[in-house]
Amino acid sequence: MSSSDLRHVLHASELDDSVWRSVLDSAVSYKENDTRTNSADGKTIGLLFFNPSLRTRTSMEVAAAHLGADSTTLTPGEGTWNLAWEDGAVMDGDAAEHVREAIGVLSRYHDALGVRVFASGTDYEADKSDELIRRVAEVATVPVINLESAWAHPCQAVSDASLLTDRFDGDPSGKDFVLTWTYHPKALPMAVPNSTVKMAARCGMNVTVARPESHALDDGVMEAAQSLADPHGATVSATDDLDAAVKDADVVYAKSWGGPLVYTDPEKEAEIRTSSRDWRVTADRMARTTDGAFMHCLPVRRNVVVDDAVMDGSHAVHLDQAEYRLHAQKALLDYVWDLG
Ligand code: CP
Repeated sequence: MSSSDLRHVLHASELDDSVWRSVLDSAVSYKENDTRTNSADGKTIGLLFFNPSLRTRTSMEVAAAHLGADSTTLTPGEGTWNLAWEDGAVMDGDAAEHVREAIGVLSRYHDALGVRVFASGTDYEADKSDELIRRVAEVATVPVINLESAWAHPCQAVSDASLLTDRFDGDPSGKDFVLTWTYHPKALPMAVPNSTVKMAARCGMNVTVARPESHALDDGVMEAAQSLADPHGATVSATDDLDAAVKDADVVYAKSWGGPLVYTDPEKEAEIRTSSRDWRVTADRMARTTDGAFMHCLPVRRNVVVDDAVMDGSHAVHLDQAEYRLHAQKALLDYVWDLG
């Protein structure tokens, strides 16, 4: 089977509508019924984390176990060899093994691979083309699930869409969804906001991205989101007025990201970011919503990104969100292994 025939999950927006719908329905069903099966008995998934994780790693390991499959988790460089990525690399440095061999070998052992490899933060075009996760998929001979790459976090997107489907009784379309940038002491990658704006648009929600102008999302992402919203008659827009954006919102989804300026002028980006500490989700801001849900993919910095009063208050659904990772990934494993 060629790589293009495998059921890779690289970007959620690349899943057919029928697959998207079926995965969301299946995730909600897994949530409702707390299902454990042996449908994947004898199968294994290899998980490769080039970057840290709490939720994705644990929920994927547990998802496999709930379906009767086994998992193996590797963190390259920690008990395994450091890997080289570049084609043509002269490997006379730290890297003892090339990703081509590592993925080739792991494909011989496993029935699917999950890989987390974050953005470089230095090469915008390479990150935007998601070249590392796509290289993994080219080399692999089994399905690859993106566990967060430079440009996308499809497991988070599918999970969040499932939660929203559940919260809004099967149909979140027409609801007002605000993705707000927040201050953070570090310039974080854009995989989650990129996936989130497209996820909410695909759910038919009216999406507003609130962010300082300096941290605008990539035009291509915003245009792709609008294309996903179009069939629902929904809108995708951006603003630098957070207080206005949250008024009457049904959902406020907080996330920080470095934005394109990180690649061209990181000192300027840091200067703007550190002078934007008031971009924080507060109880006052949540009080402006229509009893809106507060969402965050986690991990989150309390009283920096969002106040304790919100995290510990009635609006917060971040733990439900994290729980949905498990249900959604069981649904994704069903898809990649065609378990029916
Ligand atoms: N949201 C998420 O991906 O969490 P982890 O980084 O802990 O996996």
